[in-house]
Amino acid sequence: MSNTQKQVVVAVTGASGAAYSLRLVETLLNAGCLLHVVISNAARQVFAQEVGLTPPSAGAEAKDWLTMMDQVRSGSHGQDWRFQDTPVDPAVASAGRLRQYGLSDFNASAASGSAQVEGMVVCPCSMGTLAAIANGASSNLIHRAADVQLKERRPLILVPRETPLGLIQLENMVRLGRSGATIMPAMPGFYHEPQGMGDLVDFIVARICDHLHVPHSLGRRWGS
Ligand SMILES: Cc1cc2nc3c(=O)[nH]c(=O)nc-3n(C[C@H](O)[C@H](O)[C@H](O)COP(=O)(O)O)c2cc1C
Repeated sequence: MSNTQKQVVVAVTGASGAAYSLRLVETLLNAGCLLHVVISNAARQVFAQEVGLTPPSAGAEAKDWLTMMDQVRSGSHGQDWRFQDTPVDPAVASAGRLRQYGLSDFNASAASGSAQVEGMVVCPCSMGTLAAIANGASSNLIHRAADVQLKERRPLILVPRETPLGLIQLENMVRLGRSGATIMPAMPGFYHEPQGMGDLVDFIVARICDHLHVPHSLGRRWGS
């Protein structure tokens, strides 16, 4: 691992939008980041429902996630995602740039403020995880790592998906926004004339990468 490699925690929870997390992982690997990945149990149910796949478990590496992304691209679940670029070269996204941890693994570096993690993304973020983070109830590694980001005043990007939103959910978002988190709902725009679902996914992933200051080539920028 190079000393300059940007370290990002990617937490995947049980809100709808498995494709966002897959595309995010692929894009961050393509940019040369070192990812610390953790998935909730409910997210596994969502993956089964939405892409017909079982996500990798603790100990998985970059190639395991890229293989899954390839399956999604090839329409393994009967969907045509139409991502507009070519897949990541496995030689570029080599093993060692992704470390996956178990949900209860508090020995993971992301569980401590001493780790040199630059940013964390919860994508997609369920209302349950949003509530836990908003209330400092750190009962799993995702909640704890998010807590750490907030107390260390480091970037925490939450990508909630729910509609409509109840008052408790809205208040949790306000609380998190006041605490320094960025609330980035999975609300793709349509003004960039998307050609398919891949473009809608990329709209959100591009915004996440921008906030992490990670270079990418997803979609056209407005005015360019
Ligand atoms: C297929 C499926 C889709 C779901 N979609 C959402 C959703 O969009 N937003 C949400 O907040 N919860 C959604 N849920 C419910 C959450 O998964 C559930 O509240 C769970 O307890 C969240 O746990 P987690 O935060 O540990 O992942 C969904 C569940 C399933 C099985």
